Amino acid sequence: MYGKDSPIGVFDSGVGGLSVLARLVLEMPQEDFIYLGDRKNAPYGSKSKEEIVGFSRENARCLSELGVKCLVIACNTATATSAELLRAEYPDLPIVGIEPAVKPAAHSDCRRVAVLATPRTVESSRFAELISVNSGACELIPVPCPRLAGMIERGEDVRDYLSELLSGVGDFDGIVLGCTHYPFVKNEILAAVGREVEIFDGAIGTAAQAKRRLEALGLLSDSGEGKISFVSTDGDDAYIEKFFKEVTKCLFPKT
Ligand code: DGL
Repeated sequence: MYGKDSPIGVFDSGVGGLSVLARLVLEMPQEDFIYLGDRKNAPYGSKSKEEIVGFSRENARCLSELGVKCLVIACNTATATSAELLRAEYPDLPIVGIEPAVKPAAHSDCRRVAVLATPRTVESSRFAELISVNSGACELIPVPCPRLAGMIERGEDVRDYLSELLSGVGDFDGIVLGCTHYPFVKNEILAAVGREVEIFDGAIGTAAQAKRRLEALGLLSDSGEGKISFVSTDGDDAYIEKFFKEVTKCLFPKT
């Protein structure tokens, strides 16, 4: 059983969820975290729903066995396919899942927003609901990006692919980064667009939500500076740790 000094478990298909972990650490620097990247099975975004549910279940099992007090699904694709099921399977564990930041985009001054996400997220009923509930003055354009997360995971050059993806979208003044891998190529996205657009990232709301849940449950730790452990299902834990140290710098250049 967990207590207030137990770690927070965070998982993603690979390194993408590190963009969420960075926000979580910013919100709750006193907490311990265990980050699990399922690099053995990444990327998830074009795999079948059944496969993604299987991977998500395995990730949740692994983290719950490590005694986490809260599970953060730092993967939009896994949230869209598996969050409800995991909540039913772990009724005593607070579970917070990231979703594309469609709501803040729809409530901004933007008139037309491209919502970039993996194919499986875009096809999910949760995504359709998110778009329909938030559609109004702002037009929301789903843009499935089949190869993008895999390219980022492998550290490939995404510039040509981004130009290709965005060329058919027409005019837009906002972009939702609906996959946790995408904040790592924010500058390349802005360069491909070639003009000022507003960027929306669900990690900020997700980290705030996780903190609110833990606070409400009296589960926030008060024991000083936290530590982070990294686990990769391909055995290369050091790769994820190194990536985290690099990306934190690029996500928050001024800190
Ligand atoms: N980073 C994940 C997401 O937010 C998954 C990307 C992938 O593995 O395809 O959707």
